[in-house]
Amino acid sequence: MKQMNFLLISLLFISPAFTQNKAKEMVAKMTLDEKINLVVGMGMNIPGLTQSGGTGVGQTLDKVPGAAGTTYSIPHLGLPTTVVADGPAGLRIEPKRKDDNNTYYATAWPVATLLASSWDTKLIEKVGKAFGNEVKEYGVDVILGPGMNIHRNPLGGRNFEYYSEDPLVTGKIAAAIVKGIQSNGVGTSIKHFAVNNQERNRNTVNAIVSERALREIYLKGFEIAVKESNPWTVMSSYNYVNGTYTSESHDLLTTILRKEWGFKGMVMTDWFGGKDAVAQMKAGNDLLMPGKAEQKKAITDAIKNGTLDVKVLDENAARIVNYILGSPAYKNYAFSNKPDLKAHAVITREAAAAGMVLLKNTIIALPFSKNTKTISTFGNTSYDFISGGTGSGDVNEEYTISLVQGISNAGYKVDADVSSLYTTYLNDYKAKHPKKSFFEEFMNPTPYAPELEVEMNLINNKAAATDVAIITIGRNAGEGADRNVENDFNLKESELKLIHDVSTAFHAKGKKVVVIINAGGVVEVASWRDKVDAILLAWQPGEEAGNAVADILSGKVNPSGKLATSFPQKYEDDVTAKNFPGKEFPDKATNTGMFGMKAIPAEVTYEEGIYVGYRYYNTFNVKPAYEFGYGLSYTTFSYGKIILSSANFNKPVTATITITNTGKTAGREVVQLYITAPAGKLEKPSAELKGFAKTGLLKPGQSEKITFTIKAEDLASFNTNESSWIADSGNYTVKVGASSLDIKQTASFNLAKPVITEKCNKVLVPQVSINELKK
Ligand code: BGC
Repeated sequence: MKQMNFLLISLLFISPAFTQNKAKEMVAKMTLDEKINLVVGMGMNIPGLTQSGGTGVGQTLDKVPGAAGTTYSIPHLGLPTTVVADGPAGLRIEPKRKDDNNTYYATAWPVATLLASSWDTKLIEKVGKAFGNEVKEYGVDVILGPGMNIHRNPLGGRNFEYYSEDPLVTGKIAAAIVKGIQSNGVGTSIKHFAVNNQERNRNTVNAIVSERALREIYLKGFEIAVKESNPWTVMSSYNYVNGTYTSESHDLLTTILRKEWGFKGMVMTDWFGGKDAVAQMKAGNDLLMPGKAEQKKAITDAIKNGTLDVKVLDENAARIVNYILGSPAYKNYAFSNKPDLKAHAVITREAAAAGMVLLKNTIIALPFSKNTKTISTFGNTSYDFISGGTGSGDVNEEYTISLVQGISNAGYKVDADVSSLYTTYLNDYKAKHPKKSFFEEFMNPTPYAPELEVEMNLINNKAAATDVAIITIGRNAGEGADRNVENDFNLKESELKLIHDVSTAFHAKGKKVVVIINAGGVVEVASWRDKVDAILLAWQPGEEAGNAVADILSGKVNPSGKLATSFPQKYEDDVTAKNFPGKEFPDKATNTGMFGMKAIPAEVTYEEGIYVGYRYYNTFNVKPAYEFGYGLSYTTFSYGKIILSSANFNKPVTATITITNTGKTAGREVVQLYITAPAGKLEKPSAELKGFAKTGLLKPGQSEKITFTIKAEDLASFNTNESSWIADSGNYTVKVGASSLDIKQTASFNLAKPVITEKCNKVLVPQVSINELKK
């Protein structure tokens, strides 16, 4: 009996319903000021830009220096300040503290594009577990990530923080990392909810999107993550969707997120996001970050003059309290400030290699043969390898293993002449461009060193003297700006010349040339790829970068990553190139932007609807340079026949397929299941990804059976007229393949009658010709 009581008490104690009631009781004991203090964060200490006035506002408590924000404490109720910190690729805090000899470095994990390209949810969960341990051990309560917007256009400045052009990959990978991080008892904030697909005019742009594209493409990943992994918090985005700021949208934050998807957590704004604090409260955006005195005043006035019902504020406050009750801060967790960074370096290296994509390997240039001993390493970024992107997606890691360090660690000899040429050049450049603070860099980024021009004589000498050439092409980006087509998506003249010169010289001597792409997003490859023998897309792989690249080059790891985003032949091939990043209205510009910057109203219409990424390329037969789902291995795989549990869809159908390693090297295969739906009342893409799995490490000759379960929801499209997800009746083709264009096996089943899988609310309706922004 005693034992039963204990069980009951502990169940009660941990159940969310219990903490929700407790949160409500606590709110009932608060003064109005306390509630208002709670819903507005404690401000942010930005050197030279600190906001002024109001209790606590303008001063991020230095509980964890470098963290992005804190929440208000109410000691008489036992509610402590909690700390939230960036970001998606690792914990972003200050690595050094005043009068303190300890260091506070965090692991730089591979960026999101790389993680998604692993298609390995188990591995991602493991990354999340280690990542979350650092969050907890450094005294942080919520990590501001993962980022999970859709790669709508290749130039998106934050694409590196996001996973994919496909919502299923996005949702599954996000759910995996959220589960891993939160298994530590710390929270996540999935962001930026929603439709934050560009950086240009990010605080003013109104994205006009059809209800169908919203539901099927832009919201779907968030829906999967919310339902499968219960993130503690959601961060609303900066932009407007169909005329309303997302942080002020009741449709988005309450009707869809809470009522339709069942989200129980707290919503916070992006930093300084939205305009109208009262509208944000009413929309269900509980916490305003980082918090400003004006917001407190606006809420206080609204309560006093009756335009904001205190019941709304109580609900917002209760959701914040409920979050605090689950936080390590509330539990008084004695964090060590000493996570095991060495152990985490092993995991980040494993993850990095798992998500790199081998794009080309025509004459078996890779892995390096036993005779490869000396390597000429060209390209600035071979020496200054980029571990991750900039802005809040950056991490203060202790080190980044460069490509040259990685290949020397693996036992290869890096040519000393080439190496010293680059090192001297880059050191000189750095001496002339001293490191700036985070905010100075954000406002005015230091340009990367122009690509060093290497003389043909030296290249010719090295083609004779060394065994192979590597050229690294590096790109970086981050919040605040999108990338450019010229000299960014497209290679620079100097890079094309380098590729040309090195290939000509090395091929003349019968030597091979390998290009490493060190970028967070997509670059043009079609115009130069024929010149080189192999291309490895290393993405931005975190602090163990060079070691992970060397693992692949040497054959220690067999590449198994595949593209979760398409590589078009040229930028203009992408359907969104026509309207990205939208129209600007400069005559309506104001100085009300973040940190007093200029704010130009803007509008972008997602004319392509659901045809984003491969849904466009494959449906309209536009051949990309490398398609969605593509990636090579050092071995080959065969796909057995698909066995369906039934040829008629009455209940979930299973599709089973056996994958066999038919080559000579152990390897892993990413197996993708696409479905072609019958033409019903709606247009449908030629096929859509509905499942994926990664085999274990299969030895030569070894097989693995994979079973996918196809549910009615997987067959449904969003019918706008009915505001419902409907699976049309007819014949469905299941296509299992190694990429979206490399389908190995097909099978089909029939759905006798249409099925409404979900009835939704009629919300977020676009007003197609919005020329005037709502506010
Ligand atoms: C970014 C967020 C980030 C926040 C806090 C904003 O500028 O958009 O992604 O979490 O800053 O640093």
